[in-house]
Amino acid sequence: MSQGATHRVAVIGGDGIGPEVLAEALKVVDAAGVALDDTPFELGAAHYLASGEVLADATLETLRGFDAILLGAVGPPVGSTEVPPGLLERGLLLRLRFELDLYVNHRPFVGTPGSVSPECDFVVVRENTEGTYAGEGGFLRKGTPHEVATQGSVNTRMGVERCVRYAFELAAGRPRRRLTLVHKTNVLTFAGDLWQRTVDEVAPEFPGVAVDYNHVDAACIYLVEQAARYDVIVTDNLFGDILTDLAGAVAGGIGFAASANLNPARTGPSMFEPVHGAAHDIAGTGKANPLAAISSAALMLDYLGEHDAAERVQKAVHTYLAEHPAGRSFPSTVAVGDAIAERL
Ligand code: IPM
Ligand code: MN
Repeated sequence: MSQGATHRVAVIGGDGIGPEVLAEALKVVDAAGVALDDTPFELGAAHYLASGEVLADATLETLRGFDAILLGAVGPPVGSTEVPPGLLERGLLLRLRFELDLYVNHRPFVGTPGSVSPECDFVVVRENTEGTYAGEGGFLRKGTPHEVATQGSVNTRMGVERCVRYAFELAAGRPRRRLTLVHKTNVLTFAGDLWQRTVDEVAPEFPGVAVDYNHVDAACIYLVEQAARYDVIVTDNLFGDILTDLAGAVAGGIGFAASANLNPARTGPSMFEPVHGAAHDIAGTGKANPLAAISSAALMLDYLGEHDAAERVQKAVHTYLAEHPAGRSFPSTVAVGDAIAERL
């Protein structure tokens, strides 16, 4: 049950199906008995087109004062040319991850009945503030036949270590206590070396955790053929981005995949969002699956200290899925939200 504290949550519905799935997530939080003091924020493609602003500095400062941020999805319809590519990604999503120092992207995957890997149960700990996402690079002689484009990968010892440490702590608290570093150390010999050395140096502090390593290409095969081998995967930003889409597909579909952008040091709010996008093509049709948003809200409850409510929501999602195997059609966005809320 609620600890009595009211949690101040910034709610960014965003675009497309974002507001619809968040409405169900908030309904479920309420049904779990947790009181939120939620404040809506208009951000995303529609807000940009209406105001010319992606994320005002003052809005960012206001967001810093919340306990958590719950985000639906942001982005323009596929094929729309009104919003320049990358503008919202860099200017909103990545800016929030970087400015709020959300250095871990925690993405859990539990296989659903009927999926490629119904037995899997693992978490990908994706470094969330460095790597190729840091935006290092540029053009030389742009637009000429001698053009050069570089895109670097930033890997700091501090950034890698805090992410690796989070992954070890997570693994130490799970029954199987297994950590797999995923990288490409055979080719990315500088960044890979730093990651491998960091894992090797932190490992002795966690003697109960079994550590191994997979190259990222091999990890793709294992994820499809034997995802159940994984417990906690730790990896860099770009590998984590790609692997979590694959993992989502393997565990039942991107409609179930939840994520927590965490600042484990708690120097500001953390941000919770489904892995899926705005899916404008199904917005307003009732076909959007709210389970990823609901599971993301469960991650938020856990982070806010509402462990019991978080567990009950997650359990309700799993029992619902057991009765409605992946791939089968479901009644509607609202009906799924209602069904989860009723189970609480
Ligand atoms: C994700 C998304 C983002 C990412 C995009 C929208 C910037 O794909 O959260 O996985 O690449 O991190
Ligand atoms: Mn992604």
